[in-house]
Amino acid sequence: MAFAVTEACIRCKYTDCVAVCPVDCFYEGETMLVINPDECIDCGVCEPECPAEAIISETAEDASRWIALNGRLAAQWPNITDKRDAPPDADAWKGVPDKLKFLPEALEA
Ligand code: SF4
Ligand code: F3S
Repeated sequence: MAFAVTEACIRCKYTDCVAVCPVDCFYEGETMLVINPDECIDCGVCEPECPAEAIISETAEDASRWIALNGRLAAQWPNITDKRDAPPDADAWKGVPDKLKFLPEALEA
């Protein structure tokens, strides 16, 4: 069981989720974070903390593709364990649909 970060995180990257995760299983890319599905203990604490509502549980519709993407990118990106300042334009990107096109790694095989 795991939670996953969706494209709603892209260019928002508030990192409130990182501050509450008890097992430090978030990984950081340039414009978003992902959860390592093998390390997530499915506690659900991070989901309500995200201002962009970017985190979903594996029971959500369409969750399997996000869990697969999170797992692939978590293997490539460094671990993040502390909250950071969000990008200055984070609020402007909150709620914008279809942001996956801004994530070059998502387009790779
Ligand atoms: Fe961390 Fe819990 Fe969120 Fe999984 S569900 S990423 S263990 S806070
Ligand atoms: Fe992203 Fe939400 Fe965390 S915007 S960095 S998943 S708090």
